[in-house]
Amino acid sequence: MHEDISEVLFTEDEIAARVAEMGQRIAQDYAPKVEDGGIVMVSVLRGAALFMADLARKIELPLEMDYMALSSYGNATKSSGTVRILKDLSSDIAGRHVLIAEDILDSGLTLEHLMRALSTREPASIEVATLLRKKTKAQAAIDCRYVGFECPDEFIVGYGLDYAERYRNLPYIGVLKQEVYR
Ligand code: PRP
Repeated sequence: MHEDISEVLFTEDEIAARVAEMGQRIAQDYAPKVEDGGIVMVSVLRGAALFMADLARKIELPLEMDYMALSSYGNATKSSGTVRILKDLSSDIAGRHVLIAEDILDSGLTLEHLMRALSTREPASIEVATLLRKKTKAQAAIDCRYVGFECPDEFIVGYGLDYAERYRNLPYIGVLKQEVYR
């Protein structure tokens, strides 16, 4: 796998340090919400599962973890613009504080769709923690309260991010060589 990476953007240690910082900040902000409806972390499968697992362990508060699956990319390198719900939440989120853990905000279509769908269920609040926010011109205006890193508009893989379902298990985040997907 490593030979397909042209540049490492964020090392395993850098990711771990940033996720720990995000978790501490979230724990401070969310401490009052534990008794006020409770906290449900929502992860968007499949890519964000790794980030959610690491982030949740850095938030020292009682919380629930739940999962949704949406898809917009398939095996293509650019978003098709269509977002499908493949799996819905198991929990009822009415009156609860929802924290969405996403691996990457790119076009923003996934989060736009997800936040619209979840807000109709009358949660007490919805916030987003994204590990990466891509610097792209055409990005939906998503209010992300917690952002791990800004990243360049490159085809990146690792730490949950895939190309054709590969590279998710790379412990770091890197740029995929063009020859792999061209
Ligand atoms: C990726 C990623 C985000 C979304 C971001 O998911 O995990 O959910 O794309 O892109 P956007 O901001 O342009 O909508 P993908 O649909 O590739 O599914 P995956 O998590 O299974 O890889």
